Amino acid sequence: EDLQAALYEPMKKHTTMLVGGPAQFWVQPSTHQGFANAVNFCRQRGVPVRVVGRGSNLLVREGGIRGVVIHPSRGVFGDVVVEGNRVTAGAGVRFKKVASVAQKHGLTGFEWMEGIPGNVGGGLRMNAGAMGTETFDQVVDVTFLDEDGEIRTRTRSEIESFYRNVPELRRNFALCATFEGKPADADVINGKMQESSHKRRTTQPLAASAGCIFKNPELMPAGMLVDTLGFKNESVGKARVSLEHGNFIVNDGKATADEVLGLIEKIRKKAREEKAVELETEVQI
Ligand code: EPU
Repeated sequence: EDLQAALYEPMKKHTTMLVGGPAQFWVQPSTHQGFANAVNFCRQRGVPVRVVGRGSNLLVREGGIRGVVIHPSRGVFGDVVVEGNRVTAGAGVRFKKVASVAQKHGLTGFEWMEGIPGNVGGGLRMNAGAMGTETFDQVVDVTFLDEDGEIRTRTRSEIESFYRNVPELRRNFALCATFEGKPADADVINGKMQESSHKRRTTQPLAASAGCIFKNPELMPAGMLVDTLGFKNESVGKARVSLEHGNFIVNDGKATADEVLGLIEKIRKKAREEKAVELETEVQI
């Protein structure tokens, strides 16, 4: 009863971009041990295994995903616990939920999380950020399943993190994390929450997307670069560069993964040819 499983689960149901073929085996554990058992079972047999949370920064190809996909959302993975100035959240908790729980408890520092569509697990793995704050700015510690199949907890200073990249959490799987904030007056927190959602509503599209497609290169923000190259509203099939923000590709519901990938390649080619910039994708492909 620790695991729920399905065969050929369509990934377009589990990504905010609404594209992608099926996951061969779809597994939903509800305890850390259940998660560990599923991963260790696969590793011992050479079965590919990966973890998908909210799928908000993920592009799944039409061919789907071979092997096992673990989706931590049930049981302990959805827990949020507040103790003093600290909030501990399971990998399957949405960042928006962490922001609103912190708000209810009078804690500041979490407001930027209002602007993150994904879950804690994915945000830790990629060091998600918004409004000038990154996930690891606020982490106290992370509990994860390591390469040897052991569950371990490490503090922030023991985990190397970079802009949209935490190498260690590519090899290990985050299970939960503790974040730290500070007490503040309700108006201060409410104001910052509003600023965060206002920024998102006014500069980013509402339509289905995978968040920012590219990491910001040194030259200028990727959205500005795509804009400068004249790609706003450009489309491949039903995949279209957002009018609101050049670093978003939107899907009106009928786009395919191939169309999204085609548009990404078109942009990368022009950035390379005209600006000598090698755009790196932020979305996981
Ligand atoms: N800009 C344009 N044209 C556009 C889009 C942006 O000229 O089409 C300009 C803006 O006017 C601004 C600059 O580019 O001067 C930067 O734009 P913005 O403030 O929107 O920030 P960003 O660097 O594009 C980053 C994160 C977002 C995060 C926002 C808000 C990356 C790749 N993106 O965007 O994160 O939401 O800041 O804090 O680091 C994500 O990671 O998926 C994501 C959306």
